[in-house]
Amino acid sequence: MPQDLNHLESVALSELSRIETPGELEEWRVRYLGKKSALTAALRSLGTLPPDERRALGARANDVKKNLQSRFDAKQQAVSVSSIGQSIGVAPLDVTLPGRPFPMGRLHPITRVIQEICAVFARMGFQVIEGPEVEKDYYNFEALNIPQDHPARDMFATLWLDQKDDSTARLLRTHTSPMQVRIMETHKPPLRFVVPGRTYRYEATDATHDWMFHQVEGLAVDIDITLRDLKETLFEFCRSVFGRDTGVRFRCDYFPFVEPGGEVAIECFQCKSSGCRLCGGTGWLEILGTGMVHPDVLARCGIDPTVYSGFAFGMGVERITILRYGVDDIRHFYSGDFRFLRQF
Ligand code: DAH
Repeated sequence: MPQDLNHLESVALSELSRIETPGELEEWRVRYLGKKSALTAALRSLGTLPPDERRALGARANDVKKNLQSRFDAKQQAVSVSSIGQSIGVAPLDVTLPGRPFPMGRLHPITRVIQEICAVFARMGFQVIEGPEVEKDYYNFEALNIPQDHPARDMFATLWLDQKDDSTARLLRTHTSPMQVRIMETHKPPLRFVVPGRTYRYEATDATHDWMFHQVEGLAVDIDITLRDLKETLFEFCRSVFGRDTGVRFRCDYFPFVEPGGEVAIECFQCKSSGCRLCGGTGWLEILGTGMVHPDVLARCGIDPTVYSGFAFGMGVERITILRYGVDDIRHFYSGDFRFLRQF
């Protein structure tokens, strides 16, 4: 009987080693491990043997069964892998099948407009630089001629990070203008910089206001910089971004850190300046604030205002994007809604 088991085992294993297909393997399994196999019969007949023999033979029969089962498992894996390989090799490859489309990512409209704005100024010799969104009172206000209790602070509803009211109190910058000061503190004229970045205001949101938005600041300082440089630079910017034929208007405005201060508007492209809802009936769309850098600001940054002069400007990127693409609500930009974003 033990010899029979040895024989059975070696025959089964040598057959197994020659098997190549799942079908042959299944036949093998039925033959050697199935209910009607010799091995199963041997195990069943153990009960009829005297106890001594039963123990020895039982142990051996179980070993053989375990061994055949584990070899079978390994073979099954090998056969299934090679049968996949065969079907790939054998099945004709259809090279005309269209590829599977996968969704393409794209840049956010605000990112694109920022890049476009910076590119226009880069062509005019401006460098691009970024600055901190967490600012000190000094840079956001004081250094820009807006001391404590100055009424111009009301123009900027501020998100404060510190409670103290001195120039070291931290806040989320309400505009990108603090970078004017940081640039002038660390660079010597001639200077030409644009600064894109996020800005924050403590404001209720509606279709035209959000508590976070983007600005692009600009600064040029050199000897002999005049209002004429300011106007021509900004007019060129407007024509590049909004089209060569767009009318551009330049008017006086007040900002504490410039003197004189101004505001640039473009002709309303919806109504061609006859007056509509987009332009509030005025025919013009304001797009940026600007002015000649105030001599006190220059001096505070260590630049001699009797030698140097400069101009600065700041624009809202969401506003420009809204005007350009006819977006009806500023809150769409950060809703994460693909139906909106896919349109750009
Ligand atoms: N920082 C101003 C604002 O957020 C915009 C501005 C006005 C920037 C005049 C300037 C400037 O550089 O000269 O409303």
